[in-house]
Amino acid sequence: MPDMTKDSTRPIALELQDLHKSYGSLAVLKGVSLTAYDGDVISILGSSGSGKSTLLRCINLLEKPTQGRIRVGDEELILKPNKSGELQAADIKQLESLRASVGFVFQNFNLWPHKTILQNIIEGPTQVLKIKKDQAISDAEVLLAKVGLLDKKDAYPANLSGGQLQRVAIARALAMQPRVLLFDEPTSALDPELVNEVLVVMRELAEEGRTMLIVTHEMRFAREVSSQVVFLHQGVVEEIGTPEKVFDNPNSQRVRDFMASHRQH
Ligand SMILES: Nc1ncnc2c1ncn2[C@@H]1O[C@H](COP(=O)(O)OP(=O)(O)O)[C@@H](O)[C@H]1O
Ligand SMILES: [Mg+2]
Repeated sequence: MPDMTKDSTRPIALELQDLHKSYGSLAVLKGVSLTAYDGDVISILGSSGSGKSTLLRCINLLEKPTQGRIRVGDEELILKPNKSGELQAADIKQLESLRASVGFVFQNFNLWPHKTILQNIIEGPTQVLKIKKDQAISDAEVLLAKVGLLDKKDAYPANLSGGQLQRVAIARALAMQPRVLLFDEPTSALDPELVNEVLVVMRELAEEGRTMLIVTHEMRFAREVSSQVVFLHQGVVEEIGTPEKVFDNPNSQRVRDFMASHRQH
């Protein structure tokens, strides 16, 4: 399928070409191509098991794709096959630099339990980006203020709610000054009353022009913030387009059925 997101006039933040991933004989991604330009917010929808998490995890090689190309900004990740037929980074330094420029926000936060909130945020900037500790702390404080949690900087993760933890995780991702942010169902593990505080922060990031790929089941949010919506089905892009197109007038009957069963009223 041609890459419908292509547009030659804006700088590319992230490009995936013909990405495949199999686990043994199970083909999970079967040729996904996607281009995110700077400032794009791309929501990825699809039923459970359609390959959404696998797609995000292949971007920074948390999972090794079996075929395809990955480019962040102007740089293509150099890949080479390993013995199992998966692609791995040819140059570990290049992978580290790609990972630093692709922020990942997980469903379950993944904060260090034995570090304070501030320590969690400065870890990457000081260890990976080699930013001086004083500078990293003042940057972290700005980010914590941005997500409304400066007063929690000396607390430990165990003392925060899920919504607060996810806002810290977002601040931690931002602290790496990433070119692209990936979110894998960032509100799915939260109690319903805590979902909105996270969506509010994500909406602000979208409005600031951050480039984001968001796997979510929050349909109204996806509709309101996205520049493009991708519907994944069994490892292929079943439909892609503007939110208006994909939500209101999709070509695919499968997408129509999905939308009908996820109505927001
Ligand atoms: N580590 C793994 N080993 C084997 N199969 C996996 C693994 N991770 C995911 N899968 C399978 O890949 C398919 C897609 O999974 P996933 O990407 O998690 O889907 P989604 O995020 O859309 O729910 C599912 O059939 C799942 O069981
Ligand atoms: Mg998933």
